[in-house]
Amino acid sequence: MPKQTFILNGKTVTVNVRDDVRVLWVLRDILGVTGPKYGCGINVCKACTSHINGKAFNPCSVKVGDLKKKDRITTIEGLDETWPGPGLHPMQQAWIDRDVAQCGYCQPGQIMEAVALVKRVRRQGREIRDSDLDKIRNICRCGTYVRIREAIEQGARKMR
Ligand code: FES
Ligand code: FES
Repeated sequence: MPKQTFILNGKTVTVNVRDDVRVLWVLRDILGVTGPKYGCGINVCKACTSHINGKAFNPCSVKVGDLKKKDRITTIEGLDETWPGPGLHPMQQAWIDRDVAQCGYCQPGQIMEAVALVKRVRRQGREIRDSDLDKIRNICRCGTYVRIREAIEQGARKMR
């Protein structure tokens, strides 16, 4: 069995698994990192959204054999460590302040998408707009979309 090495939440990890196994299953079933949720497995629902090298990605759509040793994957479990300030990451704090979650299943992916979105627009030298929020494709079956939008706006204000 091939060995796969990458960086997960700041630590180098190595697994023995076939190249064609998708990263979501490696995270959840082999490494026990269950923040990224399984919803569709085909890159549609976005429940598994995490970060690779600081950008949003969906680990259900990436084969573990395509990862490189230096690829840095961050899941909701490691998000707080990417934030230099005290306390929780501001996006997580905003989620608590706005009491966003209902069942909670989609929420790790929603938060990871929100953080990546704010970073993406800042790299473009601007702030988030309503049109950016309209383009988010993370599905919430509980319909918490209004609170999600409010929390993203609050989190973005604090991510400076
Ligand atoms: S489980 Fe990854 S996008 Fe649905
Ligand atoms: S909070 Fe239940 S699916 Fe989003």
